[in-house]
Amino acid sequence: MSAIGYTIDSDKILTLTIDMPGQSANTMNGDFRTALSETAQKIKTDIDVLSGIIITSAKKTFFAGGDLNELYSVTRADAATFEHMVNSLKADIRAIETCGKPVVAAINGSALGGGLEICLACHHRIALDRDTIQLGLPEVTLGLLPGGGGTQRLPRMIGLEAAFPYLMEGKKVSPKAALKAGIIDALADSPDDMMTQARAFIRASPSSHQPWDQKGFRFPGGAPHHPAMAQKLAIAPAMLKQKTKGCYPAPERILSAAVEGAQVDYDNGDKIETRYFTELVVGQVAKNMTGTFWFQLNAIKAGESRPQGIEKASFHRVGVLGAGMMGAGIAYATATRGIEVVLKDVSTENATKGKHYSEGLLSKKVSRGRLAEKDKAATLARITATADASDLQDCDLIIEAVFEDSGLKANVTQEAEPKMASNGIFASNTSTIPISQLAKASARPDHFIGLHFFSPVDKMQLVEIIVGEQTSDDTLARAFDYVQQIGKIPIVVNDSRGFFTSRVFGTFVNEGVAMLGEGIHPSSIENAGLLAGMPVGPLAICDEVSLTLIQHIRDQSRKDLEAAGKAWKAHPAEAVVDTLVNEHGRKGKAAGGGFYDYPASGKKSLWPSLESLFVDQARAKNTSLQDLKDRILFIQAIETVRCLEEGVLRTVEDANIGSIFGIGFAPWTGGAIQFINQYGVRAFVERAKVLEDSFGERFAAPALLLEKAETDTLFT
Ligand code: NAI
Repeated sequence: MSAIGYTIDSDKILTLTIDMPGQSANTMNGDFRTALSETAQKIKTDIDVLSGIIITSAKKTFFAGGDLNELYSVTRADAATFEHMVNSLKADIRAIETCGKPVVAAINGSALGGGLEICLACHHRIALDRDTIQLGLPEVTLGLLPGGGGTQRLPRMIGLEAAFPYLMEGKKVSPKAALKAGIIDALADSPDDMMTQARAFIRASPSSHQPWDQKGFRFPGGAPHHPAMAQKLAIAPAMLKQKTKGCYPAPERILSAAVEGAQVDYDNGDKIETRYFTELVVGQVAKNMTGTFWFQLNAIKAGESRPQGIEKASFHRVGVLGAGMMGAGIAYATATRGIEVVLKDVSTENATKGKHYSEGLLSKKVSRGRLAEKDKAATLARITATADASDLQDCDLIIEAVFEDSGLKANVTQEAEPKMASNGIFASNTSTIPISQLAKASARPDHFIGLHFFSPVDKMQLVEIIVGEQTSDDTLARAFDYVQQIGKIPIVVNDSRGFFTSRVFGTFVNEGVAMLGEGIHPSSIENAGLLAGMPVGPLAICDEVSLTLIQHIRDQSRKDLEAAGKAWKAHPAEAVVDTLVNEHGRKGKAAGGGFYDYPASGKKSLWPSLESLFVDQARAKNTSLQDLKDRILFIQAIETVRCLEEGVLRTVEDANIGSIFGIGFAPWTGGAIQFINQYGVRAFVERAKVLEDSFGERFAAPALLLEKAETDTLFT
């Protein structure tokens, strides 16, 4: 069976129905290319008996886009073959586009990437008016570009400037928004209505051509040489670099493809696009991003780290203890997914304040037109704010988010547990206390687990699930199901101080602070963090977390280590933090200032006294930016390997996804372990040795890394 159905009806209308055999969604792979090429040939033969063409799909979605398995496997050695293959696919699309007869896209479901590009090649686009349908070109989010003509057709359709957010940020829209933006031409109420409208367009336009294939075509919004556009384009690369910090080749190549392509005719523009596309496809950053954001994330979503053979759980009533910053956020994340929440604090007043947090977030959505007032009311009605523990009756999960105090956590556990449904599970949102230690307060430690959310809960997608010594597989599976039920990404780690994310995060901030202690200029440190690809500089993030919390965690860790009879190795960052807090009262952002000053109005700026207190002019001048950037990424990657080695981390997937979604580890690398793989494992160890010799033994490669380097084997 061909991947593209070909039927001509009595009105001489040819309907092409894309229906790739053996796949749930249509993708642009070898089968599709063969079918498309045959279809283009048949159309050429039949052209005189055709009145027009409708392209639609037999799947639930219209078309999912490029075949990522195929793209992922293309190597540098394949570049020329790949480029040729893409150009011939585009020639087939182009042959249909320029056949002279009207071509209509009947978009019955989401059309993403290559799928939307097929639609853009049609003369008229009608989509089913459903808010669940997404239209967009998300290639950039995987380090790629829309290589099926998207960088050429979309700007010619809606203008360069209007096209940029779709091309360079991967913006996706509903059919309604796409109509408003000029990406589609009409909406349909039903599949029948869609086909009726498609036929009407064909009847009304016996011959049809794209605007850009007609004489006198004027670029909407101005071509690149138009003075107003030329002025904007002159600064566009600099503005883009400010966002990408030079870490992401894809948006840069997209800008080039669109602007260079806009200065030549369509066919040459298409060729320019293919060259940039090929460069990205064979490049390392696309491999990093596709590998992690597509393959590894999908593996996690498919339950790779969930124990097998346990029935999927569904949660109906969740108790949240503590309605502070985290508890209020967890209540919101749970209630918005249709689950009832009992939000308990020491007083009804506190609990109600926690519920107000949800009200604030929901009201914002209503005012932006993204939520109906009745849905807001329904979500709020699901949250019971209370000070009475007996309201926790029948909860199938209780999450504790009270102050970070073992004694208090033990009390609330013992108070709440008996109220829980008979097979319920109990979770702690502690950020530092070992789960096995907290589980001692539980009557059923096998039902006890860690669910480490990140702040702000409504925005942060990751939840780190911590398995205690006695946590059962059944409890883990159910905790995993809950995290997925609220639409978040679970990673699973074993119990240890700081778990995985906080441990690695600690190495990042400590490294930045240590640099200041060495006399390096604070703005060089912050810039190095950003240029390495971290979302925020290490000093700025210290202020957000608060320097006193950093001191507190460090003191607690030292106490525990010494109690276990082990010696504490002081980190060079400690003295710097102590100087700021103890001598200058600079405790962080919430306390008014830390490494930065926070004026009541205006932007934050580095505290000027850092210069006289710490900066060594000679050292500051002789600093290599590469050293600073490497130190920031290497120290985190090395700590991640230690977590793998110690069994805190169970999989490379969890390491990569957890590092990016939990602590913002530079996304261009594909995560803390993929950073090592793409650097070259042996080369990484060699560079780590140089850093160790220059900056301290914390850069020493762990045994697992040395072992891999011996044979230059990738972490998998
Ligand atoms: P918070 O101070 O904002 O809230 C704690 C809440 O617990 C307060 O509303 C307090 O009234 C309530 N509480 C105290 N005793 C209680 C009791 N007996 N019964 C019910 N409620 C009681 O603290 P936050 O920041 O929300 O942290 C809560 C937990 O989450 C801590 O264990 C913390 O380590 C952890 N965590 C915090 C993160 C953060 O970024 N703040 C991130 C991840 C975890």
